[in-house]
Amino acid sequence: MDERYEDFMSVGPGSLAGRYLRMFWQPVCLSENLRPGRPMPIRVFADDFTLYRGASGAPHLVGPRCPHRGVVLSAGRVVGEDIECFYHGWTFDSCGQCVRQPAENPGFAEKVTIPAYPTREYQGLVFAYLGEGEAPQFPTLSVFEDEGFVENRESYRPWPFFTQLENSVDETHFNFTHRRTKFDDIGMNDEVPEIHCEEMPYGMLRMARRGNAVRKGHLLMPNWSLSSNYEHDKGWANHVVWRVPVDDATHTSFMADFVYKTGAEAEAYKRAIAAKRERRKSLEPAVETIRRILSGEIHADDVPADHPDIVTIQDGVSCMGQGLQRARGEDLMAASDRQVAMLRRLWNRELGALREGRPLTQWRIPDDLATTKGVEGE
Ligand code: FES
Ligand SMILES: [Fe+2]
Repeated sequence: MDERYEDFMSVGPGSLAGRYLRMFWQPVCLSENLRPGRPMPIRVFADDFTLYRGASGAPHLVGPRCPHRGVVLSAGRVVGEDIECFYHGWTFDSCGQCVRQPAENPGFAEKVTIPAYPTREYQGLVFAYLGEGEAPQFPTLSVFEDEGFVENRESYRPWPFFTQLENSVDETHFNFTHRRTKFDDIGMNDEVPEIHCEEMPYGMLRMARRGNAVRKGHLLMPNWSLSSNYEHDKGWANHVVWRVPVDDATHTSFMADFVYKTGAEAEAYKRAIAAKRERRKSLEPAVETIRRILSGEIHADDVPADHPDIVTIQDGVSCMGQGLQRARGEDLMAASDRQVAMLRRLWNRELGALREGRPLTQWRIPDDLATTKGVEGE
């Protein structure tokens, strides 16, 4: 690629990638973590916000601090649909309008506002629109309408969202990074796949052929994906994940996996997930293990094969192991990087258009976007 790469990593207010990402609805919190009456500080796109759930159950997102003397609003109290500052009781409604100042003269409150953002809950996640102007249409996926249930997770990862996005579209890495995992069990790692990708109205279709089995996944521009995922003993799920920058160097992966199970099978699956979560609590955090591997203290292959986070740890070694400052232009891109190269090309094109004020691609998700329920034979 002869064009220079745009900066994919800087995501703060005013940055090109940050401006682009803010043009789309983005998940900012798991629904289950937003408890009524408990406002939360949220950091996303290197910026701070306050998220709270009103008495109606609706989530609201406003600016981080009270404009009076700057106390964080996440320390405040929820009153109906409003949030009251902990310090002197200035109160803001969900549109950011100050509606009460108990210790001030009447008439002042109406002149005071804080930023407020549209929110929406979908498939167990709280989404917000942090861009300018009216929010775009909310994107939905028909896979969630099948028979089954949604499993939500979030995972904070100390490497850039774009590095993770590249890793997710890179089918070749399975055979090397993910040895000794569930992917061995289904023969995914037996041979290096033949890969394919093409631009689609929603982003990119990517495929990997291993023998006569094909694995299909979709990158949904700009920063989410739909692919099939395999859990040992538990079968296949549709893996839907958004890679949302916290700041330039870290991100949260928000997941809404659709599991094709109902009744007793679904209950058994949920118990297995709960057991995995319980086990995780007794272990060193995955990020610490990744750091110890990269510092040379242990090797990735020392991580037990049944570690609940082995795949995340392995991906972390590859993602953090690239170094956080590496410029894309330094890479020696090869034939097996076609999917990564296309991801970069799409992003580069859109950021270039944004920088120069040219029209952006209007991504569209078809009603029937689906993935194979696993590796499909032909
Ligand atoms: S700092 Fe918020 S009311 Fe005074
Ligand atoms: Fe991976």
